[in-house]
Amino acid sequence: MPVNVVLGGQWGDEGKGKIVDTLCDTAQIVARFQGGPNAGHTIYREDRKFVLHQLPSGILKDGVLCLLGHGMVIDPVELSQEIAGLTDQGIRCGGRIRISPYANIITPWHKELDRLQEESRNDGKQIGTTRKGIGPAYSDHINRQAMKAWQLADPAALKSILKDQSERVRQLFPGSELNSGQLQEAETAFLSAAAEAAPLVQDFSADLRQAIADHQEVLIEGAQGLLLDVQFGTYPFVTSSSTGSAGILAGLPLSFRDINTVSGIFKAYTTRVGNGPFPTELLDETGESLRRIGSEFGATTGRPRRCGWLDLVLARYAIRINGINRIILTKIDVLSEFDSIDVAVAYEYEGKTYDDADGLIHRLADVTPVYRRFPGWNSDISAVKRYQDLPVNLRKYIEFIESFTGTSVGLISTGTSRDSVIIR
Ligand code: IMP
Repeated sequence: MPVNVVLGGQWGDEGKGKIVDTLCDTAQIVARFQGGPNAGHTIYREDRKFVLHQLPSGILKDGVLCLLGHGMVIDPVELSQEIAGLTDQGIRCGGRIRISPYANIITPWHKELDRLQEESRNDGKQIGTTRKGIGPAYSDHINRQAMKAWQLADPAALKSILKDQSERVRQLFPGSELNSGQLQEAETAFLSAAAEAAPLVQDFSADLRQAIADHQEVLIEGAQGLLLDVQFGTYPFVTSSSTGSAGILAGLPLSFRDINTVSGIFKAYTTRVGNGPFPTELLDETGESLRRIGSEFGATTGRPRRCGWLDLVLARYAIRINGINRIILTKIDVLSEFDSIDVAVAYEYEGKTYDDADGLIHRLADVTPVYRRFPGWNSDISAVKRYQDLPVNLRKYIEFIESFTGTSVGLISTGTSRDSVIIR
């Protein structure tokens, strides 16, 4: 079966963009099933840098059809900017993007509500959202009052929904500072971007079925990571969608029978943006070094990412929940400068030791990680092309990850450029 999935196994920012871009070489279709402009997938091609937010990473490969599934929340204004930016960089987008008619639309009011909700939360309760309107847009969907992509071609319907939304925001936050002038401008920009996006809205269920029947390769690209999943993540410090494999079936017209491999992307260490528990976080110089060497700053918001060691207890959890049958390990080169590398292999909680996170996800703020220490390899691996040529200490690190998780590491990313990968 030709449907392959790539999912983030941590708190997002695992390097999915580069990997999907690499795997696109053999794919005819790349589809997103959840999330929206909160995602930021960075891809380097020769000396050019691309940052994608709503479009699948397949857009960089000419001829690949890019699908935006009904489980997504789409901001037409940002989409129009993203397409314009790519076109300026020489990417031909025409005829290659299709939006499901049932996808949810983010409006200026959702962004306003995201900001007001965050500002109204007390200290310690703020989620640290990207303020892209993600939560409010998904809330409207669950409340059965969402604006759907099929409505983008109907300005009268859009204006009526915008009016309802503005009234709801005013009711929820009476007397709060709403910059009406700016919001009016934002509504005008929204309506013009909606008209631009309307021709891209087209049901693609039959094409997807036909592609599968014809044994074409379909790549499903997740955004964020399992630990930000609204059901399986560190709730309430999560995004508002199902980022794991369950979200695929809720966000694209596919059946679980269609899916072949599920690749889980894990960074060789851990990062997180926004608030919430992070057992292996390093608030010291080592964390600072990981951030500096790994350039760990958000692709969407520019915020510095929190950094820490690899957490195999959580990796085991993500692998099981997602049905991951291949690990893709990224940014391994960032660890090359460290003399020793720690990996969390268990948690201590209330006097007991756990090597699995089942039933502990809501207790992560109170667990103490138990580490296993590995010697570093202190050498430049950027030119290495074959697994057997990697330093022995690095191979031991990788082989330990495999034995702990019971899952093989099939691909190793050793740098930002497209050809810095080792396939095993
Ligand atoms: P939201 O998705 O904007 O509602 O943000 C909810 C949480 O998810 C915040 O902690 C964000 O920092 C985090 N988040 C959302 N999208 C991403 C992403 O693409 N990478 C990493 N973190 C993300």
